[in-house]
Amino acid sequence: MAELLAVDPSRLAFVLNASAGASVVYQSLMDRGPVTVLTTNHGYGAVTMGAERVAARTGGRASVVDIPLNATEDEVIGLVGEAMRAERPTLLVIDQVTSATARAFPVDAICREARSLGVLTLVDGAHAPGVLPDPICREADYWVGNLHKFVSAPAGRLCLSRAGPGRSSFR
Ligand SMILES: Cc1ncc(COP(=O)(O)O)c(C=O)c1O
Repeated sequence: MAELLAVDPSRLAFVLNASAGASVVYQSLMDRGPVTVLTTNHGYGAVTMGAERVAARTGGRASVVDIPLNATEDEVIGLVGEAMRAERPTLLVIDQVTSATARAFPVDAICREARSLGVLTLVDGAHAPGVLPDPICREADYWVGNLHKFVSAPAGRLCLSRAGPGRSSFR
């Protein structure tokens, strides 16, 4: 698996699923005092709820940055950066490819900025393996992915008919 994902095997661990991986990260923050988390309005329910739970259990705070559906990459970086500078969270949780719209966020740039601000990052890559050519976000402090989605699914094929536009079909 480390070979498939192009990562150092010593930095990779198997967990039950992406939600369980996120819970491991949250649990590891429990003895740090009040944990402040920043999520986005595109986050996956269970992962966001876990972040809110660690904030509540440690006496910290949870906040959400709203990213409009049509925000450009630069706008996403700007909005998340602005929220991180305002909130100074312990942990930013951000999707690599969102569940609701399949939108890819510029996680490398966001994680780099987070590191410069002293903010830990958890990238939810549940939809990345099997979809993105290089699915791991190496700029993140923590990355979780799923193997039961696209890695284990039959590959899709798009066949374009010779008859030209309007005659394409999926097989
Ligand atoms: C973006 C995202 N994160 C996390 C999950 C959770 O995956 P699992 O239920 O396998 O933990 C999903 C599930 O669809 C998802 O779409």
